[in-house]
Amino acid sequence: MAILRAAITGIGAYVPEYILTNEELSTMVDTTDEWIMQRIGIKERRICKDASKATSDLGVNAVKDLLKKTNTTPAEIDMLICATITPDMPFPATANIIAQKVGINHAWSFDLNAACSGFVFALSTAVQFIESGRYNKVIVVAAEKMSAITNYSDRTTCPLFGDAGTAVLLEPTIEDVGVVDYINKVNGMGRHHLHMKAGGSLRPANHDTVNAMEHFVYQEGQVVFKAAVSSMADIAEEIMQKHNLKSEDIAWLVPHQANMRIIDATARRMGLGTDRVMINIQKYGNTTSATIPLCLWEYEKQLKKGDNIILVAFGAGFTWGSVYLKWAYNSN
Ligand code: UT7
Repeated sequence: MAILRAAITGIGAYVPEYILTNEELSTMVDTTDEWIMQRIGIKERRICKDASKATSDLGVNAVKDLLKKTNTTPAEIDMLICATITPDMPFPATANIIAQKVGINHAWSFDLNAACSGFVFALSTAVQFIESGRYNKVIVVAAEKMSAITNYSDRTTCPLFGDAGTAVLLEPTIEDVGVVDYINKVNGMGRHHLHMKAGGSLRPANHDTVNAMEHFVYQEGQVVFKAAVSSMADIAEEIMQKHNLKSEDIAWLVPHQANMRIIDATARRMGLGTDRVMINIQKYGNTTSATIPLCLWEYEKQLKKGDNIILVAFGAGFTWGSVYLKWAYNSN
């Protein structure tokens, strides 16, 4: 009997127009283009300057792009999952807001919070609903307005983040393409090293939390860096070994874009040259859940049906995961 798999059948994305360069950042905090390029590898990032726009608006633009590209109507969508750590508001779910704004009225939707592993976790979740045979068209949105939670007076975090919205369509297939497997992990102890201190039920917003700048990303960079390097490399190796994949079998590695040095270390462990690694960190920075689909969107034309692709992510939680998929279509 043919195996029913979930395949990505289209990608949409949206990045805000405004480009925040390292030069501009160095007028805001004590930093330089040279330091940021050497230690992180980011040249510029996109920022949503319009104060009336939120993460849902980035997601809406990405979903509209996706529906147009795939010739799909909103009425055909069965389900929408939004991976984000920058929801429009704590409730209701940003997924519901996106669905309403694009006219997806016959689907159920919810948010998923796995920080930089958000796309990998949401994709793994969406796959279940397709493989079960219950749904035919599921959208996974990964969207972040990171500029809303970035402290632009903290030089250790403000160069890192950017804003973006992305969306992929998942559909069933019985061909030998689509999501083959995934491995996802968490370690809640990691929460101490990367989090937002206030704004939740533990420390609701008040004057003190605002004055102490506790509504922004807090990160212990070196601890997170070490955990990211080992976890991403380990989990990429684990999924390769599980499927007997050698480095020459991999067409593309799509790593989370947090730091060029982490990307290099992961690729090295997998025995891959940079020509088979998707990299756009220099243009967009770390867009948290959106980095991996933003890479797929940029490289889409280079992808061929049947390409073996490994996605690998690491983020706050700690969360980390890898997905092995076979690309499902040729773009041209
Ligand atoms: O996506 C979710 C997961 N997140 C990540 O994967 C991020 C992981 N962490 C990192 O990528 C890196 O740790 C950072 C890029 C955040 C920091 O790089 P680092 O090489 O670990 O720097 P560091 O924190 O050890 O700081 C080294 C020095 C310090 O100065 P002293 O104490 O040695 O005098 C910092 O104050 O660099 C200084 N520094 C800067 N200097 C210029 C920190 N930020 C800056 C800056 N410009 N922007």
